[in-house]
Amino acid sequence: MSSPPKTVLSATPQEEAAIIAAVRRAEGHTVAGPEHVDGLLALLADPRVSDPIYDLPRPFTRESIAKWVADSEGLRQQGRCVLSVTLDTEGRVAGYSRFSVWPDRASGELAGARRADLQNSGSGRQGVAHSIAWMFQGLGLRLIGLTAAPDNVRSAKAIEGAGFKPMGEVESVKPDGTTRRSLYWELTREAWVLRHRL
Ligand SMILES: CC(C)(COP(=O)(O)OP(=O)(O)OC[C@H]1O[C@@H](n2cnc3c(N)ncnc32)[C@H](O)[C@@H]1OP(=O)(O)O)[C@@H](O)C(=O)NCCC(=O)NCCS
Repeated sequence: MSSPPKTVLSATPQEEAAIIAAVRRAEGHTVAGPEHVDGLLALLADPRVSDPIYDLPRPFTRESIAKWVADSEGLRQQGRCVLSVTLDTEGRVAGYSRFSVWPDRASGELAGARRADLQNSGSGRQGVAHSIAWMFQGLGLRLIGLTAAPDNVRSAKAIEGAGFKPMGEVESVKPDGTTRRSLYWELTREAWVLRHRL
């Protein structure tokens, strides 16, 4: 139930096709598949991981997670989503990222979490920066909109540390149709490029 950025861009047909192709390639990412369902279930069952995130398939069961993985894969084939996992040295799911993409708007959104024992590592900002770089350079997006719960201090710090501009609040719609008030930020590729040239 992720929603596109407030600012509306319009992609050229060539740009849209290139974004769709890049999403389908998902280069450098481990795309979540049926083999990760149990690991994702264990990850998200921990409220320290899942509580702050509004667009997850609650309640968490093997079936709801399997459907989420399969639906996300269907969307990836359309160039609209990449659900990826990070694995620890033992091959267990240690985190996930879900990139939502609107190819016709050259825009995207990002949600994700890491396992509780890996949180507060001081590398949240680095993780956000890495994902943002991939969305602009790897996927060819021109705009990213992000949301976070108003009390999610770590996310807000990592988001603003990456150069995102606060743009008020939005009502985020959860999969069950209820809403949550979220803080909202945007970053354009132009601003991101300028920032990294400084
Ligand atoms: C969000 C998340 C990925 C961040 O990763 P992390 O390793 O925990 O984050 P960090 O330890 O790097 O902290 C991020 C920032 O918050 C700051 N911070 C951490 N705890 C804080 C606190 N209690 N008060 C104020 N600032 C705090 C850190 O100093 C850091 O800021 P800096 O980059 O300016 O130094 C991780 O906490 C997570 O998975 N949380 C659960 C799911 C979630 O909230 N997902 C995001 C939804 S939008």
